[in-house]
Amino acid sequence: MLAVGALVPALALTGCSSQTKPELEVTGAFMPQPVMDMAGGFLTIRNDSDTADKLTSVTSPLSDDVQIHETKDQKMREVQSFDIPANGELNLERGGSHIMFMGIKQKPKQGDKVSIELHFEKADPITVELPVEAATHNPQQH
Ligand code: CU
Repeated sequence: MLAVGALVPALALTGCSSQTKPELEVTGAFMPQPVMDMAGGFLTIRNDSDTADKLTSVTSPLSDDVQIHETKDQKMREVQSFDIPANGELNLERGGSHIMFMGIKQKPKQGDKVSIELHFEKADPITVELPVEAATHNPQQH
C-alpha cells in the first residue's frame, strides 16, 4: 500500500488534492444464530464511487480472531482481502464469501446484535450492527 504512494510523488507537485475516498454503504447485514463456537457474518458493501477499494479486515468484541473467507468447491479458506469494485458491490452471502468469527466468546441469540468494525484499504472504517437471525436464515437478494 505504501509502495503505491511512493510511485507517484511527482503528482504532488501539480497541487492535486489527494484521491477521494470511496463512499461505501453496508446493507443487509446479519448473523445466523451460531450453533458452535464460531459464527458467520453476511452483508453487502456497495461502492458508489469511481474508486475501487478492498475489505482488508474485520474486528469485533465477539471474537479476537475474525477472518474473511471465500468458498471454493464447497470448501472455505481465509483470504487477505476482498475487492470492492468501483461503482459495484461486494456480496458476502451464504454459500459464498463471508465473515468468520473464530472461537466466539459467547453465543449470541436470535434478536441480539453483534457489533463489528469493517476495515478498508482506502475508506474509513465502518461500524455495523449485525442482527442475529435464525440459524437457517437466508434472505433472497435481488
Ligand atoms: Cu468460513
